[in-house]
Amino acid sequence: MHFYIHIPFCESKCHYCAFTSLKKENYEKSYFKALSRDINFHLKKFKIHHNQIKTLFIGGGTPSCIHTSNYEYIFEILHPYLAKNAEISCEANPNSATLNWLKAMKNIGVNRISFGAQSFHSEKLKFLGRIHDQKMIFKALENSHKAGFTNINLDLIYDTKMDDKKMLEFELLNLKKIKPLITHLSAYNLTIESKTAFAKKEHFKKNAPNLMKFFIQEIIQLGFFQYEISNFSKNKNSMCKHNLSYWKGKDYIGCGLSAVGFHKNQRFYTAKNLKSYIENPTFRNIEKLSPQDLNLEHLFLGLRSIVGIEEKKLSLAQKQKADLLVKEKKLEFKKGKYHNHNFLISDELALYF
Ligand SMILES: C[S@@+](CC[C@H](N)C(=O)[O-])C[C@H]1O[C@@H](n2cnc3c(N)ncnc32)[C@H](O)[C@@H]1O
Ligand code: SF4
Repeated sequence: MHFYIHIPFCESKCHYCAFTSLKKENYEKSYFKALSRDINFHLKKFKIHHNQIKTLFIGGGTPSCIHTSNYEYIFEILHPYLAKNAEISCEANPNSATLNWLKAMKNIGVNRISFGAQSFHSEKLKFLGRIHDQKMIFKALENSHKAGFTNINLDLIYDTKMDDKKMLEFELLNLKKIKPLITHLSAYNLTIESKTAFAKKEHFKKNAPNLMKFFIQEIIQLGFFQYEISNFSKNKNSMCKHNLSYWKGKDYIGCGLSAVGFHKNQRFYTAKNLKSYIENPTFRNIEKLSPQDLNLEHLFLGLRSIVGIEEKKLSLAQKQKADLLVKEKKLEFKKGKYHNHNFLISDELALYF
């Protein structure tokens, strides 16, 4: 089983971001109390046994703007259920992940830290609405090592209107500098989300497929292994097991405001606002997925990553199409699975089915 926990608090709102991120004000304590009820309830509901949780991901929001005592409280509940070698990730922002915070999180059991850097360029950072600078990114990475982390990810965003070849070369130059300090990189092509500051103005996104190709090729040249359209690891051991489980269509429990869960053919959504979540944290809206929905998801996720698509999950007509793509050398068939090696055309391929 896999487990996701959402921390819906941030210090400020980035211009591109549609994730649930609120000012924590004085809700911190009541949120974590509700969260612990939510976690206890769902561990029982899904009959989770000791040592059964293989990956735990604490995402946000900004988990690093929350005092570590709140996580201690949550880990007291979760600890017996975590597998001995579980991957335990936590997101953090470079400005709030202090050495003390990192040390305490490491002590609690977190063994993978993921920083939202987004860019190394001061103007681009301002344009994105970030409140940190390049120095804070370097410091946060250094501190993570001091705290004993060996599994470290960095998030970047590109394809904003400020990204031309020169800007991407600047990002790559800095990536090269910090490469010894990280084991994983997520490079996200900007999505313009509705109800964000970026949605209100046009042309905030560049929409430049050639630059995307250039950036990805250069990241690979730096020695990273691309295992999903936006995800790169330094070696096979540092791929994010939690995200791989999503792409493989595995079941996961999601707790916390706006967390999503998935079990068999059902998706679970929490109450939509903080007050209702705190009042009733175990409530879930259930969406039933049809076999067609599941099939489409399997195609999209499998083709965008090294996961691939399973022959046994395809209809006869889909299998014939997949075999044709093998003949055209667009897919490779290996051990009951079709694999795509060019993630840039993955959505195009998925739509062909
Ligand atoms: C769930 S967010 C939270 C991370 C953390 N709060 C931070 O900002 O550092 C995880 C990552 O998603 C990416 N992201 C969020 N909104 C995006 C968007 N509209 N387009 C592309 N990437 C986005 C960012 O790289 C971000 O670091
Ligand atoms: S990108 Fe991260 S810090 Fe910025 S608003 Fe979204 S969750 Fe918060």
